[in-house]
Amino acid sequence: MSEYHVAMLVGSTRQGSLNQRLARAIEKLAPQSLKFNWVQMDDMPFYNADLEEDRPAAVKRFVKEIQAADAICIVTPEYNRSIPAVLKNAIDWGSKPPEDNVWNNKPIAMAGTSPGAAGTALAQSHLRQILPILGSHILPGEVYITFKSPDLIDENGTVNDDSVQGFIAGLPERFAEFIDTFSKR
Ligand code: FNR
Repeated sequence: MSEYHVAMLVGSTRQGSLNQRLARAIEKLAPQSLKFNWVQMDDMPFYNADLEEDRPAAVKRFVKEIQAADAICIVTPEYNRSIPAVLKNAIDWGSKPPEDNVWNNKPIAMAGTSPGAAGTALAQSHLRQILPILGSHILPGEVYITFKSPDLIDENGTVNDDSVQGFIAGLPERFAEFIDTFSKR
């Protein structure tokens, strides 16, 4: 299988973020063919069309990194039954102007974790509503992880539960095949 570059977008930047741990686990368990690049989102201002004439440097950098990626992996918490504003803002910047929409034709995988039982189901459902409109191809299947014990996944992305590890590993494995299929179209 060819090598593919995957932009990793994590919807939480706080220290000790559970979703950052999950993102590290996905990266660790991924096949060798996937190379991850964590892309920063929290240095961009809120979208404002007045800034379009001279886009902020952080926006230009973000767009370039997403354009350079073969695929995108979004790992995000759920905030009040939706996605965090930092992630929505990044999606909005990347979607404009329509002829340069960076999400168009990109294979996208998503996952998320929360201490709550239905952790991130609704946030992911919102992503599945937003991204296809922008032309993205979403990996089928759902990966929600209930972070049921404080050490379920450690800071290095090591998963301390065999069945949860197997479940998480399935995501990058399926994604590698999915990206491969799209690249051959
Ligand atoms: C939350 N949390 C949360 N959890 C959930 O399952 N559904 C939700 O709607 C919300 N809403 C919500 C709103 C806001 C503003 C915050 C700060 C938190 C809890 C959230 O899942 C928990 O704090 C996670 O640990 C956040 O992810 P990180 O930062 O650990 O990656």
